[in-house]
Amino acid sequence: MSDRRFILAVLTAVVGLAAGCRCSSSNPTSASVSIPPSSPNSISTLISRGKSVYAGNCIACHNPNPKLAGTVGPEIYGSSIELLEVKLVKGTYPEGYKPKRPGAGMPVFPHLAGDIAALHAFLNAP
Ligand code: HEC
Repeated sequence: MSDRRFILAVLTAVVGLAAGCRCSSSNPTSASVSIPPSSPNSISTLISRGKSVYAGNCIACHNPNPKLAGTVGPEIYGSSIELLEVKLVKGTYPEGYKPKRPGAGMPVFPHLAGDIAALHAFLNAP
C-alpha cells in the first residue's frame, strides 16, 4: 500500500517536472523573439561566449590571457579556425603546421566542436 503511494508520488513529481520543463523552455523562446535577429550571432556575442568557453575549459593549462603562455599550454591568441578545429576535435595539427610546443599533453574536446567559432572569435578579438 505505502509502496504504491510512493510510486504515485514519484510519478506525480515526474509529471510535474516535465510540465515545469515545458514551461521554462518555452519562456526563453518567446523572450528571444523580441531580440533583433542579428544579435545572437553578432561578433560581440560570439566573443563573450568564446571567453566563457575558454574560461571553463582551457585556463587550467593555458593562460587566462591567451596572449601569454600558460603553466602547461602555450599562448594561443591568434589561432586559426583550422588549428582550433583539428587540435580540439582530433588532437592533431593542420598539415604543415609547426606546433608551438612539442608533445601531445592536451586532451581532445570533441564536445566543443560547436563552440569553435566562438573560441576563434575570442582568440582573435582585438
Ligand atoms: C590539460 C591541459 C590543457 C587544456 C585543458 C587545454 N590545453 Fe591546449 N594545449 C595544452 C598543451 C600542453 C599544448 C601543447 C601541445 C600539446 O602538448 O598538446 C596545447 C596546445 C594548444 C594549441 C596549439 C597551439 C599552437 O599553436 O601550437 C591550441 C590551439 C590549444 N592548445 C587550444 C586549447 C583550447 C582552445 C583549449 C580549451 C578548449 C585548450 N587548449 C585546453 C594543454 C591544454
